[in-house]
Amino acid sequence: MRHLVVPNREVEAVLGHIRARGWGAVGFRVFSSDDGRGRLIPLDAGAPAELPGMLAEFEVQMHEGVEDERVETDWLALLAAEVDEATIAEKGEAWPSNHEFVGDLMIVRIEDAVAEYTDSIARAKLGAHPHIRLLLADDGVEGEFRIRQLRPIGARLADRVLAGPTLEFAPPELLTTEVAVKESGRVIRCDPTRAYFSTKLQTERLETLALAKEMRAELGRPLRVADPFCGVGPALATLLAEPDLVGDLLAADLNPDAVELLFTNLSKWDKRPYPNESRELHRAHEGRFVGLADATKLGEDSDIAGKWDLVLVNLPHRTIEFLPELIPLLDRSGPSMIRGRAIVEEARIEEANAAIRASLPPTMPGKPEPALRIKRDYSASLRLCSFEAWIESN
Ligand SMILES: C[S@@+](CC[C@H](N)C(=O)[O-])C[C@H]1O[C@@H](n2cnc3c(N)ncnc32)[C@H](O)[C@@H]1O
Repeated sequence: MRHLVVPNREVEAVLGHIRARGWGAVGFRVFSSDDGRGRLIPLDAGAPAELPGMLAEFEVQMHEGVEDERVETDWLALLAAEVDEATIAEKGEAWPSNHEFVGDLMIVRIEDAVAEYTDSIARAKLGAHPHIRLLLADDGVEGEFRIRQLRPIGARLADRVLAGPTLEFAPPELLTTEVAVKESGRVIRCDPTRAYFSTKLQTERLETLALAKEMRAELGRPLRVADPFCGVGPALATLLAEPDLVGDLLAADLNPDAVELLFTNLSKWDKRPYPNESRELHRAHEGRFVGLADATKLGEDSDIAGKWDLVLVNLPHRTIEFLPELIPLLDRSGPSMIRGRAIVEEARIEEANAAIRASLPPTMPGKPEPALRIKRDYSASLRLCSFEAWIESN
């Protein structure tokens, strides 16, 4: 999560500005910097990528958000009103302490050990988070489209919380999972039950933005950007918000539901109409190739191949395997870049680095060799990593 580092004497004034604009992260708290001279203020994902006015003077640091204990205490207190103390203590770590917010949805993982208390968990979580409309249990990610299996377990109807059998009486609009998420000053429409979307990737997207700006400085012109696994398009939201950064654009995905949401999003971000429903890859406007396509086949299309400065590869389970099919997308007449994410066993990261380097063309002198950086744990042994490769011109 982004935090603004503010000297102690200026904290109150800065907090005033941030609160007035709704840019503080709800449920997280301000804490001291390591040297004690400043405070770190957690920023909401919706706050602009570049803060305006006096806020721009302060450093932005990436840091794990520190939860406001009051919310945690509230939910446990509400749980204690439903479940006896001995059971709460006995189940310990199994109670869901982590959660993800997607618009006014909240997603939690329910461990088997506490599954029989799902209704109580729902009432306590919704009681402690009054801005949440719908609580969903996360049963994991499935299939080629990487869609999360989500189950409604609680909903708020006016001042009542519905859970268990009472959920059957919830009106359909209360159970809708299509939501608008604000990120870096842009609104992203998504539906986590129909297409992959993760709020946790905002940091990744901001890093991509920084790399794209560096590349624009290198090339001296807007970039031709290809996002062949674009989902609903969140990486493009951040890039398109930066003036004169994106020239031509390729946005494709294999999931028709993702493409439909992508079109809704592009109509807003790109300020011109896109189709109302999913369509095969086509040229919607001058320099705008969008739609349904298999990324691994795009390199065979002479209208698409060899035309892109920056190619994004966000299919972490298969990134390394697909690299050879994606390289033909790059325009090798000048410098180009592949930016990717991969899931790799921690013990085999060096092996994966060697595989990435072996499938890429020669990298640009003066730029770091592509190397996986661990971003977070994916499981006990697997790590979610990212990398970027600057490719030399032919
Ligand atoms: C991990 S998601 C990333 C989505 C998006 N880039 C994001 O950051 O939210 C991977 C996406 O790749 C899509 N996908 C999987 N295989 C594909 C293929 N062969 N060609 C194009 N898209 C594919 C899935 O439907 C999914 O939307």
